[in-house]
Amino acid sequence: MENDESVLRRKLEMVCGVPLFWSIVEEWAQVESFQARPDDLLISTYPKSGTTWMSEIVDMILNDGDPDKCKRDAIFNKVPMLEFAAPGKMPPGTEKLAEKSSPRLVKSHLPVQLLPMSFWENGCKMIYVARNAKDVAVSFYHFDLMNKLHPDPGTWEQYIEKYMAGRVAYGSWYDHVKGWWEKRKDHPILYLFYEDMKEDPKREIRKVMHFLGKDLKEEVLDRIVYHTSFEMMKENPTTNYKMIPKDVMDQSISPFMRKGIAGDWKNHFTVAQNETFNEDYERKMAGTNLQFRTEI
Ligand code: A3P
Repeated sequence: MENDESVLRRKLEMVCGVPLFWSIVEEWAQVESFQARPDDLLISTYPKSGTTWMSEIVDMILNDGDPDKCKRDAIFNKVPMLEFAAPGKMPPGTEKLAEKSSPRLVKSHLPVQLLPMSFWENGCKMIYVARNAKDVAVSFYHFDLMNKLHPDPGTWEQYIEKYMAGRVAYGSWYDHVKGWWEKRKDHPILYLFYEDMKEDPKREIRKVMHFLGKDLKEEVLDRIVYHTSFEMMKENPTTNYKMIPKDVMDQSISPFMRKGIAGDWKNHFTVAQNETFNEDYERKMAGTNLQFRTEI
């Protein structure tokens, strides 16, 4: 087992031009050769886009909205993260998934070009959740402050520069959302938006239900909306990540369930940062019909 100093706060390393946590790079052979099964459901996102929220929604739909069944285990065990690795701290995602019976729920933040081939070969269903670039930047910054498996984010000023340049874990937000957007044209990918989920959770949960081939009564849908609200998930020990030891995630610095809103970026971006960000955004998102809302 490696000591904390060698495991925590290490710098990112590259896989095919994408910066990733060093521990994922060490485990990369296992990730690349991962054997997906045809009935696996992939929940894919750029970090901080609503992965935990969607994971709990999917689990609730599959369990007919039964909150007790959904509290059977922590979210990171019910929906293991494919590429996760933290040597000496927790078992790798590939190992946890190999032990799971089908049908499995799989979480991943990998950009589309790095997803193991077996997912495409097996025609696995996938749900992609995208969130506007500004709120993701703010959420990711706070997450990096509290999650010691990540490199130190530096100041907000420094972080926003790195984020725009794609020098953060999982690389460019812009490439990530566009890459998955294009892929949905030839693969069963349900592409959803965090802001739409905030605006009308029931409408978006219904889309997920149809995609999963389920048919739940209105009252069950209402129950799922209730139990997957930010307020409920913040208090739920199986979804708020408080089961992760404090030396890894120090929630006294910033809670995992931080604010859960659209538009918090306005409390963090200066006017000048916003102008620079917008100009850069126009350039990077030119030529795509993918549209985001930065407030609702
Ligand atoms: P904030 O940091 O802006 O609050 P992920 O699960 O992909 O890591 O995303 C985490 C972000 O989703 C955090 O955003 C978190 O608060 C938010 N989130 C988690 N559960 C939510 C819910 N039920 N409703 C709204 N936002 C939620």
